[in-house]
Amino acid sequence: MKTVLITGASSGIGRHSAIHLAERGYKVIIVARNMNRLEETIRNAPSIASNMHPYKVDVSDSESLTNTANLILKEWGHIDVLVNNAGYGLKGPLEFLEMWEIQKQFQTNVFGLMEFTKLFIPQMRRRGTGTIINISSVLGRMPLPFNGAYSASKFALEGLSENLRLELAPFGISVSIIAPGYFDTQFVANQTEGIRSQEAESAYKPYQDKYLNRKNTFGRPAKADKVAETIRKVIESKSPKLRYLVGVDAHYAMFLKTIIPDRLFNYILGKILI
Ligand SMILES: NC(=O)c1ccc[n+]([C@@H]2O[C@H](COP(=O)([O-])OP(=O)(O)OC[C@H]3O[C@@H](n4cnc5c(N)ncnc54)[C@H](OP(=O)(O)O)[C@@H]3O)[C@@H](O)[C@H]2O)c1
Repeated sequence: MKTVLITGASSGIGRHSAIHLAERGYKVIIVARNMNRLEETIRNAPSIASNMHPYKVDVSDSESLTNTANLILKEWGHIDVLVNNAGYGLKGPLEFLEMWEIQKQFQTNVFGLMEFTKLFIPQMRRRGTGTIINISSVLGRMPLPFNGAYSASKFALEGLSENLRLELAPFGISVSIIAPGYFDTQFVANQTEGIRSQEAESAYKPYQDKYLNRKNTFGRPAKADKVAETIRKVIESKSPKLRYLVGVDAHYAMFLKTIIPDRLFNYILGKILI
């Protein structure tokens, strides 16, 4: 059975995916910052605990990434699949976000992902096989106001993934993007607000209020198991696609974005959201 490494497996999509794959016999290496919550992931599925192996890593910290990747490669020899899932959202209008907040957003969602991937490519390239799955978001291809930093980080992830897919194909390594819609995880609870959010509120209040009211009518989040199933589908596919949308909302939004001209799509979003 393949060895799958999942980042951000202490919660949400990563945790569901780790359990889903471990239940089907995969050896799953689970990594995140919070070791207690990684161990909780294992305790949640005691019958398959021996298929899950926790390691601590902070994907925004180069030293932590290098040490953990070296340790994993030393103990496991190689991994077959890397699922870059760890991430969080920074919200607020760009005008009131500090540059260090935006840099931190990119450090976790983009640069950490690039660095971790770099550390595992050599062994995949030498073996002539491997699968890399990057967890994006529907916001990686369409905008929502007051989410610019997060959205930009996911647009960057999408660009990188499309590029890597070409670059690594000659070595038998496939790269896929999974773009979920709205899923029931700790994502919203873990979103951070810019430290100047109160100032932002005074300037953008009517628009933020309208946006939040509209957002509350978007509907309930879907179950994260759906994303876990899609990850398994990619791993088990003989010829994985570049992009997988997950969730009715993601399909609907991307369908409309594809068929409606940009100017009109932007106008409609603006009218609805702010
Ligand atoms: N839920 C949604 O609606 C949704 C929609 C689209 C895309 N996504 C994407 O799905 C991915 C997973 O999010 P989720 O919804 O499952 O949210 P979540 O429940 O908040 O889980 C996020 C995971 O990322 C880990 N993480 C965050 N910062 C990290 C860091 N610096 N180093 C290592 N691990 C870190 C967290 O672990 P620790 O705190 O223990 O480090 C946690 O395990 C994210 O990339 C997110 O952008 C989610």
